[in-house]
Amino acid sequence: MPAVVIVGTQWGDEGKGKIVDLLAPQADLIVRFQGGHNAGHTVVVGQEQFVLHLIPSGILHPGKIGVIGNGIVIDPAALLEEIDSLTARGIDLKDRLFISHRAHLIMPYHKAIDKESEKHKGTRKIGTTGRGIGPTYADKMARVGLRVADLLDPDVFRQKLTNSLAEMNYLLGRLYSVKGFDVETVYHDYLSYTARLKAYIADTAEILNDALAANRRVLFEGAQGTLLDVDHGTYPFVTSSSATSGGATTGTGVGPTRIDRVLGVAKAYSTRVGEGPFPTELGEDQGGAALRERGQEFGATTGRARRCGWFDAVVVRYAVRINGLSALAITKLDVLDECTDIKICVEYRRGGERLTTIPAVAEHYEQCVPVYETLPGWKQSTVGITRYEDLPLNAKRYLERLAAVVGCPLDVVSTGSKRDQTIVMRGAFDA
Ligand code: GDP
Ligand code: IMO
Ligand code: MG
Repeated sequence: MPAVVIVGTQWGDEGKGKIVDLLAPQADLIVRFQGGHNAGHTVVVGQEQFVLHLIPSGILHPGKIGVIGNGIVIDPAALLEEIDSLTARGIDLKDRLFISHRAHLIMPYHKAIDKESEKHKGTRKIGTTGRGIGPTYADKMARVGLRVADLLDPDVFRQKLTNSLAEMNYLLGRLYSVKGFDVETVYHDYLSYTARLKAYIADTAEILNDALAANRRVLFEGAQGTLLDVDHGTYPFVTSSSATSGGATTGTGVGPTRIDRVLGVAKAYSTRVGEGPFPTELGEDQGGAALRERGQEFGATTGRARRCGWFDAVVVRYAVRINGLSALAITKLDVLDECTDIKICVEYRRGGERLTTIPAVAEHYEQCVPVYETLPGWKQSTVGITRYEDLPLNAKRYLERLAAVVGCPLDVVSTGSKRDQTIVMRGAFDA
């Protein structure tokens, strides 16, 4: 079982960082394959908390190798800041971090366009993280992006930057009425980043394929979640990358025949940051504020309050299909400890129609009303429980019902943010 993919099954922030950190000891390499520093993956080790944005969460384990794949978009300044902050906290990255030479670079104008475009959209805004993610992927697809490898040839880099800025400054000035960027300033800034990043740049597809050929174990760390995937999510209220399991292959250069298992991470309830449809969302005084308080649902990247609601089995059932999930890890069960009743959305109604999957048009999805099943809560603490049989009976019933309605076995249940606050029914790398 040398290759396992971890993906989010909802709208991101499912606890992927914790689950990757949990599985990392059994892996040799951990690779991020899409997204950028819009991600915020939290890992709690003892009393210490780490929030990883670009560097794979497995890096906190000594000796493990972290890879930033070609599918990632990299803001070099943000990456260096993350490297420095980890180094300052005693995490040595020397010879353990590799960055794909084919990954695309987030440029200052991408961030400016991201922010201005959101302002321009007004009430139709997406609620992005403002990190320049969308415009960078747009340039990648338009074939005008700058890549990590370009940094290694200053003449090529300057020429491409000059070409891009001619167009981007025109766009920023004419469409958004903001000042553009100076070629020389950006060029010198990026060259200074290169001097520090050079040691990490590599052909990561080769590193990963060689590792798999040698039977070493690779863990693929997804960012965001299925409903934020650019194809399968609630378009246009999505991120700009393939956050589903298919992205693990295009985003790393490892073929699909090499992937053995896909583990989906789902919260025991639902959250969403940013705009877009969210059928099971609870109003502030309907339990939304209470869930946010108990689950500490504030963005790990932007600090924004997360919208909260009940578990949506239609969403997770969809994620089981789209990702070809082998199993699920359910996180934050403990957050529901105080609930008297717990609801699970099993289907939607729209007008007179009954829906068992996600409509493709966001406006139609907005009109969907959840149909709930109600289960009794357990009203006792599950914090830190490590054996399934020690869970309260109603907590087991809730989990068993979730597994049945989404049609997928549960391999892991998380009962707290710390590494050891976890019930493992089956190890991800077990045969
Ligand atoms: P990610 O983006 O999917 O890695 O998730 P985030 O790190 O953005 O958000 C998950 C939050 O929940 C973090 O603050 C974690 O420390 C926390 N967390 C993860 N698992 C559990 C759990 O089982 N119980 C509780 N109470 N917190 C958890
Ligand atoms: P992790 O990996 C939750 C959301 C943003 C916004 C939309 C588009 O921590 O789960 P973008 O900046 O990507 O163009 O924003 O996607 N978003 C996330 N929401 N978790 C994330 O990452 C997210 N990354 C992006 O809030 O709605
Ligand atoms: Mg997060």
